[in-house]
Amino acid sequence: MGRLWLTISFVCGVLVGAATYPLPAEEANEPSGAELMDALMWGRGTIGGPFELTDHTGQRRTDADFRGKLLLIYFGFTYCPDICPTDLLSISSAVDLLGSAGEAVQPLFITIDPERDTQDHLADYVALFHPRLIGLTGHADQIRRVARGYKVYYAKVSIGRSEYTIDHTGFIYLVDANGNYLGFFPPGTSAQRLIEIIRPHLSTISQK
Ligand code: NI
Repeated sequence: MGRLWLTISFVCGVLVGAATYPLPAEEANEPSGAELMDALMWGRGTIGGPFELTDHTGQRRTDADFRGKLLLIYFGFTYCPDICPTDLLSISSAVDLLGSAGEAVQPLFITIDPERDTQDHLADYVALFHPRLIGLTGHADQIRRVARGYKVYYAKVSIGRSEYTIDHTGFIYLVDANGNYLGFFPPGTSAQRLIEIIRPHLSTISQK
């Protein structure tokens, strides 16, 4: 069961083939993907938490900047060939399908590849999906802290020479207007399913 879930959940990089191997050393003291996913699945410990990052326009952003908005947070990287774009399209469609109510939803894309996902590169990328999608990057330790908060597993995988891809868990996180974690959606969640869950939370925002 764990293995199946891992297979489903590790959405990027896993298809690159048998020649891949994890880069050494980097993740020596890190919790395993299974440990992180277990914590997320069963809600062990605190999920989410504060962050301080830089957006795709170069502006410093913290979680506190987004109070009053329902957040859809996605961790990924722009070179991801498969599910990152699919999930970002779902997120973007959901925001559009909500119409004017969608303005209370702020979609965030946090890169787990700050090395390659520069500010300019992120700016080009988020524009492909939604005008209100905010791309966030930061120093490796800032990224690691926020990813750890959300129990995101990610690890570089060498694909020969100096190239790499990144294995990572791909969940869409929902955070309420007060910054509290509400839950997560699995990879491949449709826009319809997103708005089904989001709508009731939007009504609580507008009543405030
Ligand atoms: Ni991905």
